[in-house]
Amino acid sequence: MIIEAGVALVVALGAFWTFSGEKEVCNEKWINFNKYGLKNDLETKLYGQHIAAEVILKTVTGFMENKNPKKPLVLSLHGWTGTGKTFVSQLIAENIYKKKMKCSFVHLFSVTTHFPLKAHIDEYKTQLQEWIRGNVSICPRSMFIFDEMDKMPLELIDSIKPYLDFSDNLDGVSYRQAIFIFLSNAGGKMINDVTMKFWRDGKEREEIQLKDLETVLSQSVFNNEDSGFWHTSLIDKKLVDFFVPFLPLEYKHVIQCGLGEMARQGLTPDNNVIKRMADDLIFFPKEERVFSDQGCKLIANKLHFYIP
Ligand SMILES: Nc1ncnc2c1ncn2[C@@H]1O[C@H](COP(=O)(O)OP(=O)(O)OP(=O)(O)O)[C@@H](O)[C@H]1O
Ligand SMILES: [Mg+2]
Repeated sequence: MIIEAGVALVVALGAFWTFSGEKEVCNEKWINFNKYGLKNDLETKLYGQHIAAEVILKTVTGFMENKNPKKPLVLSLHGWTGTGKTFVSQLIAENIYKKKMKCSFVHLFSVTTHFPLKAHIDEYKTQLQEWIRGNVSICPRSMFIFDEMDKMPLELIDSIKPYLDFSDNLDGVSYRQAIFIFLSNAGGKMINDVTMKFWRDGKEREEIQLKDLETVLSQSVFNNEDSGFWHTSLIDKKLVDFFVPFLPLEYKHVIQCGLGEMARQGLTPDNNVIKRMADDLIFFPKEERVFSDQGCKLIANKLHFYIP
């Protein structure tokens, strides 16, 4: 996605052509929410995230089935690296758009890649606003994913706020069917601490509830002086529908990720290979080696080193 490509051009095209020559259009043929597909994916492909799985399924389903939503859906996913935030946003897209992440109505922004220079902030603001406005006017059911949201400059967040709010339309465009997903590591340390406390107290991971994490998320994220994200009225104005915590993954989840990855790559899942790989990874606390420091990240690449 290149913002610089110009919204005018995008609007002029009005539709997108796939490689097969068939044009991708903003209609039910190309955009069709599969509730059971999402449920099944969250249950079978996403490991160790019972809170995120429940919140995502309920909010996305509720939103997609609502014929007249009052505002766009805005979700903010938080957690340690490699715990599944990007993965979940892909699962959501896959169950809404036929062309999945390749769909022209799905827009992924990486803050440090797309908005790297502070000096260009005014340009970014205009481009981003035009990009959102142009694309939602082509397809109201557009999805915008912002990765590294905690690094997004305050002014830039302010510039997208109007689109996240309750409003009939802005300049003739209605944003109520759009989906915004923010990804960040903000609050990850606190989520880890709470999860570790449950484990030290001998409680089941599945006993952790959303409410156990909401307060720590608000303390660590919303009051974090370093994070531009939280200095904006994004929070005060209740523009984010849900803050979704991702728990640190345990050894057994890493094993599940490894076996799943082998199968995905067309290999026969081999417990010994995955165990050897997992044993070389870093876990915390150091003594007990319970939680993976990198979650399931990089497993797909590491795997080959351990295959005899
Ligand atoms: N909970 C999980 N269940 C299943 N697979 C997972 C999970 N977490 C991570 N993975 C696997 O690891 C890969 C990397 O995870 P992902 O990119 O979603 O992490 P992330 O939370 O976005 O991390 P970061 O904060 O570094 O961006 C995914 O593509 C997926 O294959
Ligand atoms: Mg990610």
